[in-house]
Amino acid sequence: MQAFQFHNPTKLIFGKGQLPHLKQELSAYSSVLLVYGGGSIKRNGLYTQVTDILNGMELRVTELAGVEPNPRLSTVHKGVDLCRAQQVDFILAVGGGSVIDCAKAIAVGAKYDGDMWDFCLRKAAPQTGLPLGTVLTIAATGSEMNGASVITNWETNEKLGWWSPHAYPKFSILDPAFTTTLPENQTVYGMVDIMSHVFENYFHHGTNTLVQDGWSETLLKSVVRTAPELIKDLDNMELRETILLSGTLALNGMPSMGVSGDWATHNIEHAVSAVYDIPHGGGLAILFPNWMKHTLSENVGRYKQLAVNVFNIDSAGRSDEEVALAGIEALRSFWTSIGAPSRLADYDIDDSKLEEMADKAMLFGPFGNFKKLDRKDVLAIYRASL
Ligand code: NZQ
Ligand code: ZN
Repeated sequence: MQAFQFHNPTKLIFGKGQLPHLKQELSAYSSVLLVYGGGSIKRNGLYTQVTDILNGMELRVTELAGVEPNPRLSTVHKGVDLCRAQQVDFILAVGGGSVIDCAKAIAVGAKYDGDMWDFCLRKAAPQTGLPLGTVLTIAATGSEMNGASVITNWETNEKLGWWSPHAYPKFSILDPAFTTTLPENQTVYGMVDIMSHVFENYFHHGTNTLVQDGWSETLLKSVVRTAPELIKDLDNMELRETILLSGTLALNGMPSMGVSGDWATHNIEHAVSAVYDIPHGGGLAILFPNWMKHTLSENVGRYKQLAVNVFNIDSAGRSDEEVALAGIEALRSFWTSIGAPSRLADYDIDDSKLEEMADKAMLFGPFGNFKKLDRKDVLAIYRASL
């Protein structure tokens, strides 16, 4: 285990019926930018619930609607302009990871003289940001309790993540009831993303990580056990609650305490989304098992541990490598069984832009802490995923 510091300032307000806490959380502010997506919160009634609370307060409310899945820099710019014009002092994101990531980018962009894209290009780092809070509607990214955000520049076809201590939400309200209207495909993408966040930290070269391994395996087993029931019973509040908590805990910094996570697969997936605008979780479902096969020889024991502890693979009479491979196959079968895609062809992606995607993935040079990937590795993983 490496030495580490852990500081997560987000107040988590979790459970059914918790939305009224919004009033207290916003009581110190006077001008709020309400950020949301393409309309799901209007269809399911959450918009009315939130605006009823806001309208009952002494607040000026400005709205930014229409944040895209894979949120775009152009929308961030609109939000920054609104913050300046309306002297916004708090940003409230109501939606999924895309809405929250966009709100975070607006929050730091509004306090920066240059273009927020500088942060994505690592040309500058945020020194401050407007405070923000969230009401989450999809269990997936963990953005509700971390300082990360991923923005797509559709002019250059680049999708880049950034992180800042100034981007943590002050609070996040998580009510499983708000996630019950999520359709089956988005529910599945979210669960794939949650498991992928655990994998990104599970594959490391650290030692003495019994506690971290246990947390990670518990999160994975919770999703593996819950997912098949949930896709047959999308309104089930207890199943939604389990997945909602799993999503937050998978990427709030706890499973990564004292280890260096890999994060190569997310980078490889973002390059696909940048060119083809596919759902993040769908891309991960296709790529992750192929990254696993590509990196198996880095530490077969770790893959064996995943196979035995999470997928109950019987190791009797089999070599470590056979057990490890059986675990990766079990993951692929599990994701396929809940309806996740398994090939780039499922999104009509052929080999015509592999080089372009590999260039994008290599923007900051070789990457990945479990195994350092170069361009050749990235292309091999894309080809295996066709
Ligand atoms: O836009 P609306 O109409 O709200 O519809 C959304 C969207 O179409 C819909 N939706 C959300 N909640 C719903 C709902 N529909 C019905 N009922 C509800 N309760 O679902 C669609 C997808 O939403 P989105 O926010 O895009 O999904 P997700 O939460 O998976 O976010 C994906 C984005 O987050 C980034 C991804 O790369 C992608 O851009 N990530 C952010 C991370 C972070 N900040 O820590 C880490 C992740 O690894 C990820 O990269
Ligand atoms: Zn992710």
